[in-house]
Amino acid sequence: MEKAVALAKRLHLNHVPLVNLTDHNAILVYTEKGLQIQLKQNKNNKSHVTLHVDFLSDSLNYRRQHGGGIKQALARAVGVKPGKRPSILDVTAGLGKDSFLLASLGCKVRMIERSLILGALLYDGLERAEKSQYFKEIINSKLTLSQGDAIAIMNTDCHKIYDTIYLDPMYPHSGKSALNKQEMRIIRKLVGDDDDSDKLLDTALISAKKRAVVKRPKGAPLLNSVSPTHTIKMKNSRYDVYMI
Ligand SMILES: C[S@@+](CC[C@H](N)C(=O)[O-])C[C@H]1O[C@@H](n2cnc3c(N)ncnc32)[C@H](O)[C@@H]1O
Repeated sequence: MEKAVALAKRLHLNHVPLVNLTDHNAILVYTEKGLQIQLKQNKNNKSHVTLHVDFLSDSLNYRRQHGGGIKQALARAVGVKPGKRPSILDVTAGLGKDSFLLASLGCKVRMIERSLILGALLYDGLERAEKSQYFKEIINSKLTLSQGDAIAIMNTDCHKIYDTIYLDPMYPHSGKSALNKQEMRIIRKLVGDDDDSDKLLDTALISAKKRAVVKRPKGAPLLNSVSPTHTIKMKNSRYDVYMI
């Protein structure tokens, strides 16, 4: 209850004890699984969807153990090589999955997230993962989170500090988009379409020491029409790699 009161105050939200979701479109609630956002599916529907950050989830564990290690596309795109672990600035942290994976591979990663709600979910996820002896080490030594707009943060305190700047902005919705996963639909409801992604790439290209990497759905146009140095293609998406 204390945590809920403090969070509501920090995010300027109403604190309503023993809330019933049917009275609200969305609530943030502390459950036994940690902090969750619960959203009504639609106005007439009493069912709801939930989202929370779980660095210890089976799917992330699977990705960590069987995703290909340093040979997987994400690792190669950001410049991981045998004996080489670039420092990473992830300017679109979201649920922190990509960052956590890169930190698990040994990279030092700073995440930036501008949505206060996703930021709160991320802090909560980090706090819970820290309780595991194994992940405590990774989280304490490799992963940090800054809350705010990444363009402003890059302009003030990230100039030529991080080897790689990683961008995975929301892709504008177009009918049957690739973003069909439920969690992406919830994130879209929370943060919208990231309309400033072109500027995010511009700023990343000025700020990165060695490379900027953009994740895009397969077939999506280039960010800001800037051609990458090379591209790593996957089944449904690709990484555009810009060497500085
Ligand atoms: C598609 S999600 C990223 C998913 C993430 N790669 C993961 O592994 O969970 C995009 C996120 O980037 C954030 N974002 C977009 N532009 C941003 C900016 N200029 N500053 C900070 N966060 C930004 C959005 O709020 C959203 O949470």
